[in-house]
Amino acid sequence: MKSNIALIGFMGTGKTTAGSMLARMLGRRFVETDELVEERAKKPINRIFAEDGEFSFRRIERDVIKDVSSSEGQVISCGGGAVLDEDNVDALRRSSIVILLTASPGAILDRTSGGDTRPMLTDPDRLGNIKALLATRTRAYSSAADFSIDTTMIRVNEVVDEIIRKVK
Ligand code: S3P
Repeated sequence: MKSNIALIGFMGTGKTTAGSMLARMLGRRFVETDELVEERAKKPINRIFAEDGEFSFRRIERDVIKDVSSSEGQVISCGGGAVLDEDNVDALRRSSIVILLTASPGAILDRTSGGDTRPMLTDPDRLGNIKALLATRTRAYSSAADFSIDTTMIRVNEVVDEIIRKVK
């Protein structure tokens, strides 16, 4: 049964902010796959990438998504690369209404420019990095989603209202 709501999409599209507000408003548990991966690896994502490699991160992410997909009544915020894996897409689609959040490359650049906690965005030409990754991922994002919301120009509460309207 599809009792979860899963938010997917590129880094900086607002999955965490909108997801936590949505969970609060619906009285659901909020889970973030990145946080669960860090708990399992007992280190932050940056260190997992640096010390164990992306492959290792993706393996833990797959286990986490399999596990969260077997629970119900949650809002799940998925790491930006999660739906590049077919098993993850299958598990999420079986258990969740899958909502894609999008944003323009410029908005993503603004929203991801604080700190350097994103190992997929390390190119000095960060905008180019974002555009190139987006180009390889856009198809996977849209084919995994039940519907999508462009968050570029709207506030987080509007994103949440739109989600609530659509899932009702
Ligand atoms: C990634 C996105 C990150 C995190 C990891 C890899 C990606 O999650 O899972 O750094 O490949 O797009 P957020 O989208 O929550 O930043």
